[in-house]
Amino acid sequence: MTVTITPLAENAGAEVTGLDLRDDVDAEIAKRLNDAFVDRVALVFRDQTLTPRDFVKGASIFGTPMKQLLAQYHLPDCPEVGIVSNRDRDTKGDGKILIRGTTWHTDHSNTEVPPKATSLYAIDLPDSGGDTAFTNTCAAYDALPNATKKRIDGLQAVHAYLSSRTPRKLPKRTKEEEAASPDMIQPLVRTHPDSGRKALYLNPVRIEEFVGVEKEEGFSLLGELMAHATEDRFIYRHKWRRGDMVIWDNRCSMHQANKDYDMSQLRLMHRLMLEGTKPA
Ligand code: SIN
Repeated sequence: MTVTITPLAENAGAEVTGLDLRDDVDAEIAKRLNDAFVDRVALVFRDQTLTPRDFVKGASIFGTPMKQLLAQYHLPDCPEVGIVSNRDRDTKGDGKILIRGTTWHTDHSNTEVPPKATSLYAIDLPDSGGDTAFTNTCAAYDALPNATKKRIDGLQAVHAYLSSRTPRKLPKRTKEEEAASPDMIQPLVRTHPDSGRKALYLNPVRIEEFVGVEKEEGFSLLGELMAHATEDRFIYRHKWRRGDMVIWDNRCSMHQANKDYDMSQLRLMHRLMLEGTKPA
């Protein structure tokens, strides 16, 4: 079958057809897929049937799978794959249900080398709702006024595990996990290592402040940039079907899960990440 890549929205998202992710792909197809991944920031593969090991193999077209960071959500026999579901609990915190990913963010930006990509594979879904939205932060950067680009180029942000003004909770960690992950300074504007394009590197869950900028001024700048980067024109909103595998580029996107569905129905995904490089 022929592999076809079809854009799904103006600035983000493309659907790949003609590929069973359990099969090997040749170098030419792998290159087309990787180019589209960088350009469209999120790729969708429908109607897949993937065991956790198949999922790891399929995602390997785009890089090297890494161990999930929050050990409590691993699959015991496949540590590269974790579970994201609306039954997950904050097992090291208050033990209550904690639905992850429900505000705009990019994954693990408080680590020195954040994952290049994250992927979800849909196992169980509510009858409606629970979409995941993706925004292209290269396109958002490009569309900024020159004066704003001048103001923010070269600024650095302090990323904590959980910022003091985070819009949502994150799972509590053990003392050892906390000690192993100090706050990290990351550029506010990063250059994509493959495309050379500049991208806004934003994450209100993690950004505590900007180096050399008064705190309140920093929060207002973050708010301004977030409002811009999440305008509809930059977004692709994915409506899940069982068997969808979606992979996105954390270096040039943010994403958000929508918790607008009937919580008595299960939403269960397998999740994996690919090794990245230090943002620069
Ligand atoms: C995530 O942020 O990794 C999860 C997104 C989702 O559940 O749609």
